[in-house]
Amino acid sequence: MTSAADLRKLGDAIAARLPAAPTVAEVDGLEAEALGPGAPVTEARRSLRDAPETVRRELGQAVNEVTARVTAAAKERRQALAASERDARLADEWLDMTLPGRAPARGRAHLVATVWDEIVDIFVALGYTVATGPEVETSYYNFDALNTPSTHPSRLESDTLYVAHGSDPEGVLLRTHTSPVQARYMEAHPPPVYIVVPGRVYRRDAVDATHTPVFHQLEGLAVDDAITFGDLKGTLEHFARAFFGSRRRVRFLPHFFPFTEPSAELHVDCFACEGSGCRVCKESGWIELLGCGVVDPNVLQAVGYDPEVLSGFAFGMGIDRLAMIRYGIPELRMFFDPDLRILRQFR
Ligand code: DAH
Repeated sequence: MTSAADLRKLGDAIAARLPAAPTVAEVDGLEAEALGPGAPVTEARRSLRDAPETVRRELGQAVNEVTARVTAAAKERRQALAASERDARLADEWLDMTLPGRAPARGRAHLVATVWDEIVDIFVALGYTVATGPEVETSYYNFDALNTPSTHPSRLESDTLYVAHGSDPEGVLLRTHTSPVQARYMEAHPPPVYIVVPGRVYRRDAVDATHTPVFHQLEGLAVDDAITFGDLKGTLEHFARAFFGSRRRVRFLPHFFPFTEPSAELHVDCFACEGSGCRVCKESGWIELLGCGVVDPNVLQAVGYDPEVLSGFAFGMGIDRLAMIRYGIPELRMFFDPDLRILRQFR
């Protein structure tokens, strides 16, 4: 049996080692060397009951002293370890409250949306209002109401995306231009009409640098009494200069559209080379902007307007195309690229 003196010696030794124990696990281990199951102090305590009276008092005192001593030293070491761990964590978690914040990445309007708004604004400033119509359209509004003959090639399934029924007037399709809104708007509103119609249009085109099956157009329609081709020229010249710069000159070339007579193509002299010829204008000095013309009397008649009293002009332009021209974008596909740096470079 361990003597009281041995117990005290053990207690001294462990109490001396505890302050240097590097971890809580080692503190537990050292404590158990004296007080754990089977350890000398534990065994001595167990033996007390059967010990002779002469040693019991002395041994009992030593058991209690050593237990108190080791327990206290272990507790002190555990507290010291906890304190230094907390100090280390606090030092580690230190925050510099004066650091400026990190700005979250901000989105911006797509370039096509910006150009869309800009074109609309030019016409709104002239007194036009914005109208819209359905993207899923009937063959009637997309073709028939616009004086397009039943044999016109644009009706072919190779050019138009049909939803149902083919190209008869009951046919349902994805509109191939914004022009059907002309007829829808006139059916629903009495004259005078001064509207622009921006919107998505669809064509059965394979994707390449300048074609995508969905793109954007802006339609214009002015119907009033005594509207002339001169009004069309003045209005669209103003548009060309507002969009491409006040020094621009325009020209109107004869063209054909089923819904206008006469019809024309508007060209603007090249803003990049001032008309001397460059890559932007394909060396011609001129850029084709849009189609336009005097509204065909058949179109007015179809919506119940009297062509003897009313006249008008109409035009239609590609919004994506105009954005590409003005910003020198070579690829329509760039508008669909998820790499935001492509769009961010255009201010
Ligand atoms: N709808 C024609 C197209 O998609 C564009 C157009 C030409 C619209 C002449 C018009 C116009 O209103 O008068 O190509």
